[in-house]
Amino acid sequence: MHLEAQGGAEMDKSSCEAAEEWWRKETVAVVTGANRGIGTEIVRLLADKGITVVLTARCRQQQDLSQQSRALIEEGRKNVVFHTLDIQRDDSVTAFAQWLKNEFGGLDILINNAGLGGAKVDWDLLEKRQMDFRKILEDGSCAEALTEDEETAKECLGTNYYGTKRISKALIPLLKPSIAEARIVNVSSVLGLLKFLRSETLQRQLSDIENISEEVIDCTVKQFMEDIERGADLRDSVWPVRLPTYSLSKVALNAYTRLLARDLNGKACVNSVHPGYVRTSMTFDTGDISSVEGAEYVVRVALLPPSGPSGQNFLRAQIAPF
Ligand SMILES: NC(=O)c1ccc[n+]([C@@H]2O[C@H](COP(=O)([O-])OP(=O)(O)OC[C@H]3O[C@@H](n4cnc5c(N)ncnc54)[C@H](OP(=O)(O)O)[C@@H]3O)[C@@H](O)[C@H]2O)c1
Repeated sequence: MHLEAQGGAEMDKSSCEAAEEWWRKETVAVVTGANRGIGTEIVRLLADKGITVVLTARCRQQQDLSQQSRALIEEGRKNVVFHTLDIQRDDSVTAFAQWLKNEFGGLDILINNAGLGGAKVDWDLLEKRQMDFRKILEDGSCAEALTEDEETAKECLGTNYYGTKRISKALIPLLKPSIAEARIVNVSSVLGLLKFLRSETLQRQLSDIENISEEVIDCTVKQFMEDIERGADLRDSVWPVRLPTYSLSKVALNAYTRLLARDLNGKACVNSVHPGYVRTSMTFDTGDISSVEGAEYVVRVALLPPSGPSGQNFLRAQIAPF
């Protein structure tokens, strides 16, 4: 499997790069999971364009942020503010939405970046077999070095899918009407492509944009959880072969992207983007590109010109099938 984007129509880079700057300093962007990795760099790039950015992270206090994220605020940028946000917790999400409303009256851009990998790695086994983490993702070798259980599945799906849904629902009512439409960008993955689901029925249900509902997506996720809970052999199932939990969480997220794009038509552009295989803690620094390069793809989608695409899947800079 290639970890990079492949196929699809190249997004018109020139129109994006030379895009009319529809944003202003009053434009407010919220980035989730911005304590490290791609999230930190998304904040930096948006702030450098003069946008007001709310850097959110699970930690409660600004002083507990990673050094890179803290520096974004403390090195003198006036347009970056911190607020705590754990997208898995109702109380955190409610408090954040209230604060955002009081402080800024709403937002223009939501970047759902927070995510978890959904597997435990047996480093001793990898070392014994002289394998690295990347190899497992590339060709599935030494897959037994990755463990996915009830706990990792709950955390991963609870963040990547349910958490993203929770924060989106809380903030959608606060999206500001804007000449360029509000934007929601879901940071997804190439592992979330529908083709990795080994069931044509599920593929069909999750790509039936007219009829798709939250119930259909939730039901798929619940079926997966039930299999995990009863210790089913996932290799002999409908679920993705590689990193099944993570992969399914992004399949569900992509389906939610399409559902939101349909329901928010005319109010917000909603897209998914795979940032590439990026050197972050999630990939144990085995990626091909830096967090800055990964973040550039996300920001590009967030700042597409007015009347840009919605309900699309970007594999880095290319629009591709879900
Ligand atoms: N790296 C890649 O190659 C790659 C490829 C495709 C897609 N992605 C996606 O890109 C996004 C960013 O990943 P990354 O590579 O930058 O990973 P990362 O370095 O592990 O960062 C993930 C961030 O998400 C935060 N987070 C986790 N659970 C959260 C929660 N409940 N509420 C709020 N924040 C939470 C983490 O917070 P803490 O700092 O508190 O742990 C961390 O800051 C993820 O959605 C990932 O799936 C990454």
